[in-house]
Amino acid sequence: MKILRAKVAGFCFGVQRAVTLAKKARGQSIQTLGELIHNPEVLEDLKNRGVRTVSAISKLQDGTVVIRAHGISDKVRTKLKKKNIKIVDASCPFVRRLHAAAASFATKGVPIVILGRADHPEMRAVVEDFPEVLVVTQPDLRRLRRFTGRRVGVLAQTTETAESFTLLQSKLKSIGAKIQPVKTICNATSERQAAAIELAKKVDLMLIIGGRKSNNTKQLWRLSRQVVPSHWIETERDLKSAWLKSVQSVGITAGASTPESTIERVIAKLKTL
Ligand code: F3S
Repeated sequence: MKILRAKVAGFCFGVQRAVTLAKKARGQSIQTLGELIHNPEVLEDLKNRGVRTVSAISKLQDGTVVIRAHGISDKVRTKLKKKNIKIVDASCPFVRRLHAAAASFATKGVPIVILGRADHPEMRAVVEDFPEVLVVTQPDLRRLRRFTGRRVGVLAQTTETAESFTLLQSKLKSIGAKIQPVKTICNATSERQAAAIELAKKVDLMLIIGGRKSNNTKQLWRLSRQVVPSHWIETERDLKSAWLKSVQSVGITAGASTPESTIERVIAKLKTL
């Protein structure tokens, strides 16, 4: 069985930066407000190095707080600044770019629609600051009606697909909305998606490695399974030998928060099956 790896897979710039900043943080109590990134193995490693994940501002202790890669709202940032706590900002610059684009539209009074997952921390931070924003996972016309004939700022969560973003714009145009799209999907996402599709076309089966909460991993899996049977796994422990029956070639890709060590362990286990 041939095992092929996508040209680009695993840790992106923003995740690498966040993990490095968290590891370098020094002080009596190092905490992250929410999960730094969406990968359980990396979070476990950070915990073993003394970096605690805290779920609410009220639970933070004096010391240092590392801002997660998915960012926080300006409202939360202001609250943090009032505390006796050092802030290490590990939010990804591309996430901040999306936040700034939303702020720019909001300041001008332009309604905003964002393609993304409303329950994802990146989107929750935007909605906390701009509650009037509509977040849609699908370009559902019933929810878009409010923009009929109106000007609308169109954005996407950094980890969405270009395909869905284009579809959202077409749906809005079809109801006469005067769209003002801004490219907020990050390059790391686009590159990983293109490499996954390219590989999926060459193999019998794809394995997509990444945390269950990771939106960019989910999008890789969604795109890949449109081309070839695909399984989303977190680690080598999720591999099933039954998937490999009559499979000649397996493609491997991984979400932007998946460390190299996990990818290597999956490949090593595959070779034994
Ligand atoms: Fe940033 Fe894109 Fe990675 S938004 S965290 S570079 S997936």
